[in-house]
Amino acid sequence: MKLLVKAPAKINLSLDVLHKRDDGYHELEMIMTTVDLADRLELALRNDDRITVYSQSRFVPDDERNLAYKAAKVLKDRLGIPKGVEITIEKNIPVAAGLAGGSSDAAAVLRGLNKLWGLGLTLDQLATIGAEIGSDVSFCVYGGTALAKGRGEIITPLPAPPNCWVVLAKPPIGVSTAEVYENLQLHNVVHPNSKAMVEAIEQNDYFGMCQNLGNVLESVTLNHYPEVKSIKNDMKRFGADAVLMSGSGPTVFALVQHDSRMQRLYNGLRGYCNQVYAVRMLGKRNEQ
Ligand code: C5P
Repeated sequence: MKLLVKAPAKINLSLDVLHKRDDGYHELEMIMTTVDLADRLELALRNDDRITVYSQSRFVPDDERNLAYKAAKVLKDRLGIPKGVEITIEKNIPVAAGLAGGSSDAAAVLRGLNKLWGLGLTLDQLATIGAEIGSDVSFCVYGGTALAKGRGEIITPLPAPPNCWVVLAKPPIGVSTAEVYENLQLHNVVHPNSKAMVEAIEQNDYFGMCQNLGNVLESVTLNHYPEVKSIKNDMKRFGADAVLMSGSGPTVFALVQHDSRMQRLYNGLRGYCNQVYAVRMLGKRNEQ
């Protein structure tokens, strides 16, 4: 028996850090949305009880360092499942990019195995298990658009954002999320207005959304990697309505409404950046 599951990337429309917690994590307020750039996972029942992971991407580990593997292992151990699974990942989302590719693969495994192994868990139960695997996994279990608080695992759903193009560009560097958080100087940042962003989304106000994009982690990544800052500047020059870095970076995205502007941005960036994608936000949450 086999199952195909899609694992979409996410972007942060805003990312605010409120304070550092006693457990070492940071207390966050983020507004995230899924976009139609997705990994594709095939889950196949094995004859034995092993968990195996394959991918053609040399950036994807095939052992317990892989979040998809971890997700299967946590589910199997927690519920005492005597079955195995062969996970094959078609990697389309750039790795270590601020797009939650690994977290989304893990969430897809949780949703997929819930069906393949016949577990009958709710999305809320899967999201709770997901929080143990990584801070963005709970959001990825639901998909769509949401306000995420706490470590990132307290999720409040939001309506679909105003319709527009998202042009993503990833410079050829990988960023360690842990290092970015370690180097964050909270007294030195401009905090985004999460409330105003939520209102803009609720009122379907495109320019309100553009005005309120904000990510405190830019203060670290843009300083360490000047190429990220220069892609942001180029995007503005190519006609973006608004630009922001996603997550801890280095991927940067631009918002535009019209096809012609999207094309201009895409072509301009493709001139010197290998990984450029023009995508739409996915309004819909996962149902199961
Ligand atoms: O939870 P996850 O493993 O995805 O987080 C990666 C790293 O990012 C953590 O080890 C931590 O250093 C940092 N982080 C944080 N506060 C959060 C989420 C992540 O400090 N809320």
